[in-house]
Amino acid sequence: MVQTKELQHKVQELMSLLEAFKQLNSNIEIHDVFQDILLQMVHVIHAEAGTLWVVDGEAQKIRAVAAYGGSAHNILHLELEMGEGIVGKVIAGGAELLIEDVPAHPDWSNRADATSGFATKSMITVPLAVKGQVLGALQLVNKKDGRQFTEQDMSLALMLANQSALALHNSQMFDQVSRMLLSMIRTLAKVLDARDPYTAGHSERVARYSLWIAERIGMEGAEAEELYKAALLHDIGKIGIPDDILRKPDRLTNEEYAQIKLHTVIGAEILSNMEPKPAMKNAIETARSHHERLDGTGYPDALSGADIPLFAKVVGVADAFDAMTTARSYSKGLSLRDGAAELVRCKGTLFDERLVEAFVAILEECEYDPERCRERNGGYRL
Ligand SMILES: [Fe+2]
Repeated sequence: MVQTKELQHKVQELMSLLEAFKQLNSNIEIHDVFQDILLQMVHVIHAEAGTLWVVDGEAQKIRAVAAYGGSAHNILHLELEMGEGIVGKVIAGGAELLIEDVPAHPDWSNRADATSGFATKSMITVPLAVKGQVLGALQLVNKKDGRQFTEQDMSLALMLANQSALALHNSQMFDQVSRMLLSMIRTLAKVLDARDPYTAGHSERVARYSLWIAERIGMEGAEAEELYKAALLHDIGKIGIPDDILRKPDRLTNEEYAQIKLHTVIGAEILSNMEPKPAMKNAIETARSHHERLDGTGYPDALSGADIPLFAKVVGVADAFDAMTTARSYSKGLSLRDGAAELVRCKGTLFDERLVEAFVAILEECEYDPERCRERNGGYRL
């Protein structure tokens, strides 16, 4: 009878472990992974509270990146020095630690408990390591129902820690590569804009305006980020336009204008050489079609209405606005208010009505002050 009960208990444990493993592998976005790791661990071990600590190798700090339970809001974003406190010791030594009476432990610092009224009693701290490198640690506080954590809890925590460390490692790599890609795209856009003194910052502004519009129409997460990148690259084809045309201070001849128009086709061509191809689809379309207009009067394909891809429509609005409101050698540039009025005048004919309305609403709300728009729309986030 006892044996059956134990077996049942074991099966239950294994099932929750399996469920936890499945959950841990279902996300790659780093903040979701932080949250998943912590919640699975708290759930499987039946802890009252827990914290996920991650080593920031660059800053030489240990950061609380996810917290659960009574003191969570005090603990989240706390920073420790390397080697500081119980967590610091576990990370430095790479060995797990079960403490039955935490307040009596010499390394205990009750920074978080003191203000929250939460009382830490017993605690499990396990390192998260991949190939001998400790990436962080998981701390579980107080077994639910007032009992002590056991050796069995510890071995469960260690099993889960191995899987968690892998998930953490993968998402950290993914995050690094994503950030590297974004910074390379931004640099490329800067280099491009630097060729023409009149377009300094053009790509970055167009990308920012595009992102504001996107968020206003409910685009979010990965899709909004993709639009931001596509917008940064929209004029990449200008690399193929000779300097004497691109930087010509006077009005362009018809022939020169025809050549400038080719930047759309050249841009799409350049981007279609980049890998992986499916990931480039939106950027290619945006480079090719951002000068298409709703009524079919745009270029290079004279697309109209629904045939123009959404990203290209968004970037088209942002690009036209920036072009109108930036000084050129031959014109002073409109004020932001007049630029918006011009967009409104052309909505439904040249530009998508919903997108123009979304953009103008944002500009109205921050009274045409670009700095205020930037603050309100989280422009520094990306
Ligand atoms: Fe363009």
